[in-house]
Amino acid sequence: MDTLHVALIGFGTVGKGIYQCIEKQREQLESLLQKKISIDAILIKNAELQREVDEGTVVTTEFDELLNLPQLDVVFEAINGVEPAETYLSRLIEKGCHIVTANKELLATSGSRIRELAATHKVGLRYEASVAASIPILSTLREGVRSNQLSEISGILNGTSNFILNELQEKGITFEEALRVAQDKGYAEADPKNDIDGWDAFYKILILSDIVYGQQPKWENVVRKGISDVTSFDIKKAEAIGLRIKHTANLSLSAEGPVISVEPVAISNTHPFFNVTGVNNAVCVSSNLAGDITLQGPGAGAEPTASAMIEDLLSLHRNSTDAVYYSSLEKAEDGDQNFLLIGDDAALSNLTFLPSSEEGAYYATGNRRDIEAALQTHPHVKVYPMYGTENRLTPQIELI
Ligand SMILES: NC(=O)c1ccc[n+]([C@@H]2O[C@H](COP(=O)([O-])OP(=O)(O)OC[C@H]3O[C@@H](n4cnc5c(N)ncnc54)[C@H](OP(=O)(O)O)[C@@H]3O)[C@@H](O)[C@H]2O)c1
Repeated sequence: MDTLHVALIGFGTVGKGIYQCIEKQREQLESLLQKKISIDAILIKNAELQREVDEGTVVTTEFDELLNLPQLDVVFEAINGVEPAETYLSRLIEKGCHIVTANKELLATSGSRIRELAATHKVGLRYEASVAASIPILSTLREGVRSNQLSEISGILNGTSNFILNELQEKGITFEEALRVAQDKGYAEADPKNDIDGWDAFYKILILSDIVYGQQPKWENVVRKGISDVTSFDIKKAEAIGLRIKHTANLSLSAEGPVISVEPVAISNTHPFFNVTGVNNAVCVSSNLAGDITLQGPGAGAEPTASAMIEDLLSLHRNSTDAVYYSSLEKAEDGDQNFLLIGDDAALSNLTFLPSSEEGAYYATGNRRDIEAALQTHPHVKVYPMYGTENRLTPQIELI
């Protein structure tokens, strides 16, 4: 049997997960590939740390040692941030190596350049794990709905935010307490900015925008909010009228191009995201023929992420130069939307909104720009776009 020579860049949660999963599934993988797998080298940063790896695997802090291996077929990249990852991948692609990466920040920032380079050098580039880890959303978009028009993709894409909002809802604790629980359980980093400020979900939805539409909106035009302003008060108000606050990322298309928003929204119990709890992720694809498809599962973690990357290895084996698929989206109407507004009566005194059964929680239907403009002088009113309430709420709200 021939041998497939692979290397890892990064040996943290994900890198170690890949190593261990290849060992765990070796027989099955080698039978699928009809090749033996040899993990020839691992690039790390800290030479002092002990790594439990086979003695035939070179562990190095020198990128050139990996680059100059006599044979290298596929490299798994799992480090954080754009550099040095972009430089490493560029040099490997130029050398003819196939790449599997989980690095969402790199792909959101430099994805189109790396895809072009990979196409030029006729090497495969796969990154399923970069969006929602083991949920096969990229392969669903590439292979599952190709004949469809897609009107919208939305997702709970950050498990840490979903966990924290869930804790706020179930335990009525403060945001700081919920964040501490997430950190204690290893779900949130010591510096949780990437998760709770919405950056992680932002990078992931940009990758989806690239794949589905072949371009991204200008970053400065994207609504990107995290969860740090969501309070237990908001959650209780929403819950009293049957809604749950979730952090979602949304992609659709306007006449000007792709539109993305990353923010907390109010979800009704008819929407598939209503029961997505804990650190789980979910993605909903709205398509004209297949209908609404929802995929749900672990959006992070060593094994789920490694699983997606190893599936990418198998996909490379099936066709190493498969092009990235860009579908066309159906043009969405720039229409009215339903919103949940939370604020005390004084804060909403000179606006007329549809009341709900809960004091301090109100509904509004309208164009987002009009509603935000009307609320500019009401900074204490929270605005949550509503999901799962397809019908317009009547009567229509007068903004005065
Ligand atoms: N964790 C998840 O569940 C998950 C899910 C999907 C995607 N991802 C993505 O996967 C990537 C890795 O995440 P992770 O959670 O595994 O991170 P991590 O646990 O912090 O591990 C990072 C690894 O990268 C190595 N590293 C850092 N800088 C390096 C450099 N300049 N050269 C070589 N190695 C370097 C570190 O080396 P040392 O060990 O020597 O410090 C460490 O082994 C990130 O891009 C992340 O966004 C993660």
